[in-house]
Amino acid sequence: MDDLRDKYLTAIANAADEAALEDLRVQAVGKKGEVSLQMRELGKMTPEERQVAGPKLNALKDELNSALAAKKQALGDAALDERLKTEWLDVTLPGHRRRPGTIHPISQVTEEVTAIFADMGFSVAEGPQVESDWYNFDALNIPGHHPARAEMDTFYMHREEGDNRPPHVLRTHTSPVQIRSMQEHGAPIRVIAPGRVYRADYDMTHTPMFHQVEGLAIDRDISMANLKWCLEEFVKAFFEVDDVELRFRASHFPFTEPSAEVDIRCSWEGGTLKIGEGDDWLEILGSGMVHPHVLRSGNIDPDEWQGFAFGVGIDRIAMLKYGIPDLRAFFDSDLRWLRHYGFASLDVPTLHGGLSR
Ligand code: PHE
Repeated sequence: MDDLRDKYLTAIANAADEAALEDLRVQAVGKKGEVSLQMRELGKMTPEERQVAGPKLNALKDELNSALAAKKQALGDAALDERLKTEWLDVTLPGHRRRPGTIHPISQVTEEVTAIFADMGFSVAEGPQVESDWYNFDALNIPGHHPARAEMDTFYMHREEGDNRPPHVLRTHTSPVQIRSMQEHGAPIRVIAPGRVYRADYDMTHTPMFHQVEGLAIDRDISMANLKWCLEEFVKAFFEVDDVELRFRASHFPFTEPSAEVDIRCSWEGGTLKIGEGDDWLEILGSGMVHPHVLRSGNIDPDEWQGFAFGVGIDRIAMLKYGIPDLRAFFDSDLRWLRHYGFASLDVPTLHGGLSR
């Protein structure tokens, strides 16, 4: 037994790889291995002999098994070390520069808008795209019977039959983020909320998913004059011009009072869109003074605070600024379109560096 022990412990220690080790395991403690054969011999022994040899054989088997396991572990570690050495990769080396991807105009314009409003002291807020009926409508002073609910061509989330809880919707505008921000931060507050919105609509200038950026500024003495200045500054900075002609049109939104829609002068001559000239007007945003009911929904006291809000169509102003005629192409994922209209990924828009070099 001692010979057997020495023979296998030495062989295990010298095993070159896991395959050799497995051969040894079969030879020693496998079903027909030497130790197992010895164990079979126990039957032929006298009970006294068996009492001595049995435990010894079991102990030998255990010892060989642990030696095998330990060696297996060691060989595995060594193999891993070897692999780590050969597969080593310097991640600090410069990458292969094949056709670099581009930044989508929507992302670029969102960054531009964010840079402009950040400069005016607005921070960025977010809200969910699947929104409760309450945040999307009721909290914004749009009651259940209000035509605005129907006008917005709302997508409703599926409900099981018999589920009478208020429905969830794909948000039809970014205005619910006004409520969430007011509830979270109180007044005074100055935020913009860019993001995706959804309405069942589809033609050259409408897609069922599009983008808006909401603006909200609440303080003790904010007036319509601040709104107008702010929007003019924004439009000039965004279009990178000293002057741009805007038209403030009296309008109606349930969540602002008074309300104004803002159009920008443009022309569509020859299929290309030009801003600042021509006889056409393109509506780019809705705005107004936040309705007292809306302030209350946001837990802000309308006797103490007031402010303005606006909602800009990001896709619209992207089309205008970069002369993109068909909105639907934004979401076709056509590589040729993306390479043509996309932006270099390292040209992050900043006010000091220029928004769109
Ligand atoms: N939520 C409005 C829309 O989607 C835009 C808007 C926002 C109007 C804020 C006024 C104030 O059309």
